[in-house]
Parts: sequence; C-alpha cells; structure tokens
Amino acid sequence: MINESPVVVPDSYNNISETLDTADKILTDAVDNSSTLFHTLVVSLFDGKKVSSRVMVLREFDLKKRIMRFHTDHRAEKIQYISNQSSVSVLGYDPALKVQLKLHGNIDVHYDDEITQMAWEGSSNRSKKCYTVKGGSSKQIKEPSDYDIQEFEPESGYKNFSVLIFSFNSLEYLYLKRSGHRRAIHKWDDEYNCSWLVP
Ligand SMILES: Cc1cc2nc3c(=O)[nH]c(=O)nc-3n(C[C@H](O)[C@H](O)[C@H](O)COP(=O)(O)O)c2cc1C
Repeated sequence: MINESPVVVPDSYNNISETLDTADKILTDAVDNSSTLFHTLVVSLFDGKKVSSRVMVLREFDLKKRIMRFHTDHRAEKIQYISNQSSVSVLGYDPALKVQLKLHGNIDVHYDDEITQMAWEGSSNRSKKCYTVKGGSSKQIKEPSDYDIQEFEPESGYKNFSVLIFSFNSLEYLYLKRSGHRRAIHKWDDEYNCSWLVP
C-alpha cells in the first residue's frame, strides 16, 4: 500500500509549539487514514513480569481532551494487566513523515457502558466480526482453522467488546533529518510545559 499522508511536516521549526501542532495533525489524520503507519500504533504495558507490546488501531484522537481510543476483546489477558497497572506507553513511527511520536499515560477499560455502546455503533460489521470469535483472545488451541469465522451475527460480538481510553500526560516528538534532528517533549503535569531535547 502506498503510504500517503496529507499532513505536511515542517522542515524547520521556529517555535516548539509547531511540533505539538504537527503531532496533532498527524494523529487526527491517522484515525481515518489507514495508509499512514500512525493508524496502527504500538501500545505497551506492564504485565506484572515484563513489558508487553502489541499493535492497535487508533480509533480516536483528541488533543484537547488528551485522549486516544482503542478497541479490544474484553477476554484478552491485557484487560487484567491494565486493571492492576494502568501505566501505558504508545509509540508510532512513519518513515514517510520521518516522525516518531511517543506518549505516556494511563488506560481506562470500558465495558458495556455509554462509551462502548457509542464505539460499537460506530464500528463496521467487519470490525464487529473479530469479537465473535469463540474461545477468546490468546487461548492456546490445537487447530487454528477451527477458529475461522464463517457465519456470524455481528451483534453477538458486543458482549466481548471493550474500549480502552488512553489519557496521556506526555507527548514526545522526534523528527529525523540529515541536517539536524529535532526532539521536543510536551508534558502536562500540574501545568503544561515543554522543552527541546538533545535528539
Ligand atoms: C495491523 C494490526 C492491527 C491490530 N489492531 C488491533 C486492535 O485494534 N485491537 C486489538 O486488541 N488488537 C489488535 N491487533 C492485534 C494485537 O496486536 C494483538 O495481537 C492482540 O491484541 C493479542 O495480543 P494482546 O492480548 O497481548 O494484546 C492488531 C494487530 C495488527 C497486526
């Protein structure tokens, strides 16, 4: 697939705020644009013994609220990990844009509430199909083809559907360029602050 992003990444930055503006444009575009690699982000959490990472589709991004939305199967083990330790890192890189974005924050799990209902209603039947798989995510099985979904009733997947809301308190922007890399950190602690970093 040709990687096409309508976002123009600046070649140089007069002001550090331009890095946050660009990150906002990249992630806002990535929600509906499956041709940018920021559409599929790496979400890492701690499973109690080690870091555990996986690729997830970005379903919503809102810089003002400082949230990202992801969808997953409620039967997955990570739901338990997040309940014990909600600290999460989200990472993306797209070589077409030469930008890496790294965010830290916490995830809240939603199950059968207003948020999951809205997200479910906005999902395609193709997406809903994933949640109708029998047995639940990550279970050890003998024969994969036994788990191929042939006929399915999309709405039956709702009972297995979860929404993960990632609330971030830092966003790091790294732009790689031969003439000089640019790295900036934006943090929302008690109040917002930002700084350039040695790349
Ligand atoms: C392109 C791509 C997109 C994916 N999107 C999601 C997703 O949105 N939600 C999800 O739970 N898993 C998604 N997965 C599967 C996960 O990466 C992972 O394999 C799955 O969640 C099971 O592992 P886990 O329970 O440790 O997360 C995706 C995988 C790929 C390759």
